[in-house]
Amino acid sequence: MPSIISPLLLATVLLDLVGAINIFVSHYSGTVQTLTLTPKTDGSYSLTTNSSVNVGGQPSWMTFDPTSRTIYNSDETGSGSAILTSVSAAKDGKLSLSGKATGLSLGGVHNTLYGPGYIAVAHYQTSTITTYKLPLSSSTKPIDSLKYTMSRPGPNAGRGKDLSEETSQAVLHLKVLSSSRNHYSTSPRLFISNKI
Ligand SMILES: *[C@@H]1O[C@H](CO)[C@@H](O)[C@H](O)[C@H]1NC(C)=O
Repeated sequence: MPSIISPLLLATVLLDLVGAINIFVSHYSGTVQTLTLTPKTDGSYSLTTNSSVNVGGQPSWMTFDPTSRTIYNSDETGSGSAILTSVSAAKDGKLSLSGKATGLSLGGVHNTLYGPGYIAVAHYQTSTITTYKLPLSSSTKPIDSLKYTMSRPGPNAGRGKDLSEETSQAVLHLKVLSSSRNHYSTSPRLFISNKI
């Protein structure tokens, strides 16, 4: 069968390729922003702020759930207490705060969605993984909190002086995506990485 590419289809694809791209950015000033990257005919790009929402804290890692178009933001705040926020990202770039959990452990550096509507957060400063049920609200409390410790200093003498592991990331084993687990597992299903 000859393969014929419709000129109309090709034009549509090209238009998509040369169109603007929206990028989500978090900033320690407490904001999450949509930036629009637009290619110009001379080959250069312009980068402009499309939308900005103040979520508070020091937003670090963002996880985007494309189904609900929600961005989940960890807060790397290092004193007092931290937050975990969700932001709705409309297709036109507009952002709005949709949920906020307060009183979290400090130093949230990463988060991952898992199971049917749960989120796990890695806290660098306190060496913990905490888990929550979604959606986030002012009454959200951790389901679990797991603190990592080391029995002796790691190979890098400059780090881990308090024998903590500086928890940096919570990575999900693919198998968990199809299970109905509703909390973290100490089996090798939820992998925790540290920075030592
Ligand atoms: C925001 O992003 C939307 C979707 O890409 C785009 O249509 C709109 O022109 C952008 N607005 C600004 C102010 O950049």
